[in-house]
Amino acid sequence: MATIAPAPQVYEWEPSNDTIADRYGLDPRTVMRFDLNTPAEANPIAAEVLAAPIWPSLSEYPDADYARIADAAAAYNGVDPTEILVGAGADEVLDTIAKAFLPTGGRAIVPIPTYAMYAVHTSQRGATLDAVLRRPAAEGFGTDVDQVIARLPGANVVWLCSPNNPTGTADTREDLLRTLDAAADLGPDGPMVVVDEAYFEFAPASLIPVRDRYPGLIVVRTVSKAFALAGIRVGYAVAQRPTIARLESYRPPNSITSLSATIAAAAITRADETHARVRATITERERVAAALAAVGLPALPSITNFLLIPVGEVAAAEDLTEALLRSGIVPRTFGAAHPLAGHIRVTVRGQVQDDRLLEAVTAWKANRA
Ligand SMILES: Cc1ncc(COP(=O)(O)O)c(C=O)c1O
Repeated sequence: MATIAPAPQVYEWEPSNDTIADRYGLDPRTVMRFDLNTPAEANPIAAEVLAAPIWPSLSEYPDADYARIADAAAAYNGVDPTEILVGAGADEVLDTIAKAFLPTGGRAIVPIPTYAMYAVHTSQRGATLDAVLRRPAAEGFGTDVDQVIARLPGANVVWLCSPNNPTGTADTREDLLRTLDAAADLGPDGPMVVVDEAYFEFAPASLIPVRDRYPGLIVVRTVSKAFALAGIRVGYAVAQRPTIARLESYRPPNSITSLSATIAAAAITRADETHARVRATITERERVAAALAAVGLPALPSITNFLLIPVGEVAAAEDLTEALLRSGIVPRTFGAAHPLAGHIRVTVRGQVQDDRLLEAVTAWKANRA
């Protein structure tokens, strides 16, 4: 009988609305996802596209080159479409990068805590994860660049995330450029440096303008967060042409539906509408942060659409989580072994849902007083 190799590290999927509703005796339609960094309201462009006659017909495969998304993303970022790789969400783009650049037995450097999928992709490739602890909250959770630079020789990939999920903070441009320069100094043997800018629109500082200087730089973006389109699964990478050409050879065919492609292209082309919603989200984030501080549960400073809240002991964070879940509010939690144990992370969802969150947090605080 064939032997099955040990499973790679797995992503811990969040329980679905139905599972949570079952567990807490709720109507699934009332469950509010504060754990996924997505706004409550979908981008209205999706409804517009769905109401129009569908072209090309759904009996056909999607256009294999996703040219309409690539053209829209290229115009949005001031690059050439040949510098864009499109994928089914940033997650598929990250997977494609790992397949193209992270060989079995290779090594990937990652500042932690960060987005969990970098560790998953590294493990799935049979590569080693070289984790470097970030600086403390008081120093904005910045990447320990000296540590990262010391480990660059022999590494294949560096996974950077700026602004970083789940800390809500960004690396300084100086730190990012130091890392890129040190990787470039290693020449063709240097690692690829991936900078995940999934939250770019909330704090628009990008490395895309310096891509010409760094053949190893890959910037990753998504329409899941600011564009409010997580359900359509579209993301993209921006890099120099030879890098995109290599990624293209690892890209799966037709993983983005024609509907997703049409909606994504329209939303990226009309990005100014998204930028207006982002400004409202930032105002709302500051309102929620002030209200949390007023009830004695201040969040850490954030430049994104989510807030990281130090609750205290692990047991207190678990107790708050349980109280929120009973109200149909799903926060992001961190297990006892995680560097952010004792914290919860909540998304800024929009005034109606955020008020429900604030009510539930206030009631929990009052009960514990
Ligand atoms: C930093 C980061 N990168 C990528 C993703 C995945 O994005 P997508 O929905 O485009 O796959 C997320 C989602 O939470 C994220 O936080």
